[in-house]
Amino acid sequence: MRNTGDIRVLPQHIAIIMDGNGRWASKRLLPHNAGHRAGAQNLRKLSEEIEKLGIKYLTVYALSTENWKRPQKEVQGLIKLMHEYFQQYIDDSKKNDMKLTFIGDVSRFEPDLQQKIETLKTLTRGKNGLHVTLAINYGARDELTRAVRRIAEEVKNGLLNPDDINEETLAKRLDGYPTPDPDLLIKAGGEMRLSNFMLWQLAYTEMYFTDILWPDFGIKDLNAALEWFGSRARRYGGR
Ligand code: IPE
Ligand code: IPE
Ligand code: MG
Repeated sequence: MRNTGDIRVLPQHIAIIMDGNGRWASKRLLPHNAGHRAGAQNLRKLSEEIEKLGIKYLTVYALSTENWKRPQKEVQGLIKLMHEYFQQYIDDSKKNDMKLTFIGDVSRFEPDLQQKIETLKTLTRGKNGLHVTLAINYGARDELTRAVRRIAEEVKNGLLNPDDINEETLAKRLDGYPTPDPDLLIKAGGEMRLSNFMLWQLAYTEMYFTDILWPDFGIKDLNAALEWFGSRARRYGGR
C-alpha cells in the first residue's frame, strides 16, 4: 500500500503530455528514437503504478497530427515502436486488467497497425482495470473539425436540428466519448503549452507542468503531482 499522506483527493482521470524524449536522448548522445523507446518503457511502468492507486482513466499523448513533419527516420522509428508495444500489450492482455482505447485519426496508419489497434480494443473491451487511452495521430483541432463535419452531415441528412445543438452534441462526437474530462493534466519536458492536446476536454482541468523529461518522470514525480492536485480548490466558475 502506498502512503497517501496528505493526499485528500485523487483524480479520476489523468492526462499526460509525454514530452522531452528527444532531449533525454540528446543529453546521452543517443538518437531520438532511443528517447522514444525509453519513454514508451516509462509509460508501461507508470501506468501500472497509476492502476495500483485505483485511478480509473489515463490518457497519454503519444503522437500528434503535427509530428509527421519530423524526419522520416524518426517517424518510422515511432511507428515501429507502436507495432512493438501494441503487440506487447496484446500479449499482456491475457493477464492484465487494463482497457486500451485510442483517440486521434487512426485511419492514417498502415493497415497492419490499424489491425493491431482493433485487436487491442477488442481484447480489452470488457476489462475493469485502468482505462488507458492512447492519443495517436491526435490533434485537438483535427478532432473538433471531424466532429463538426459529422454534425454538419447529420444536419444535411435531416437527422439533427440546428436548434438542438448544444455542448453535449459536440462532446458526444469527440473521439474519447464517453470518457470523462481529465481532472489532472501532467506535461513533462519543461514547456508550458498544450501542443494541440484535448483543447475542449481540458476546460476545467488542473494543469501540472514539470521540467522533468518524460523518460525520467518516475513514481516520486507522480506522487508530487498528485499531492499538488490534492491541494487544488476546483471551483468550475462557481464561488
Ligand atoms: C515527445 O518527445 C514524444 C513525441 C512527440 C512523439 P519529443 O521527441 O518531442 O521530445 P523533445 O521535445 O524533442 O525533447
Ligand atoms: C507534443 O510534443 C506531442 C507529444 C508529446 C506526442 P511536441 O514536442 O510535438 O510539441 P511541441 O512541438 O514542442 O509543441
Ligand atoms: Mg517535444
